[in-house]
Amino acid sequence: MTKKAARVKTPDNILMALQEAQARSGPLTPEVMAGLAASLGVPSNDVYGVASFYSFLSIRPLGRNVIRVCQSLPCHLKEGQAVIDAIRKALGVGPGRTTEDSRFTFELVNCIGLCDGAPAMLINHDVHTDLTPGKIAGILQKYK
Ligand code: FES
Repeated sequence: MTKKAARVKTPDNILMALQEAQARSGPLTPEVMAGLAASLGVPSNDVYGVASFYSFLSIRPLGRNVIRVCQSLPCHLKEGQAVIDAIRKALGVGPGRTTEDSRFTFELVNCIGLCDGAPAMLINHDVHTDLTPGKIAGILQKYK
């Protein structure tokens, strides 16, 4: 095995290839994952395993705006569930779903590294911290 081939087959390189593919063409379809597996010389299951593990990778179509709300303990202890309930009520869909108009996809994720501003969420790449149920409608209206 060459040094280059050994480097290509690491999970980090699979992750990087998936991130690039998603940035280029959107959700990771089975065809995209199969193509990446072939080009990296790894089993398709390895690529699917990485794609389905990371919450920032998507193997299904997403709305125009993706809401990722932290559900880990520090956020949960600061009324995170009330924030999640407020988002569910505002959107009319629960976690794991996309609104009928494709405006939002609503996802629950584990810690996003914003614990000092718990409860926290990301909408696309925008950070929203110190959330309360009362702030949710005002935040969501900024996203079309
Ligand atoms: S626990 Fe919620 S951002 Fe870290």
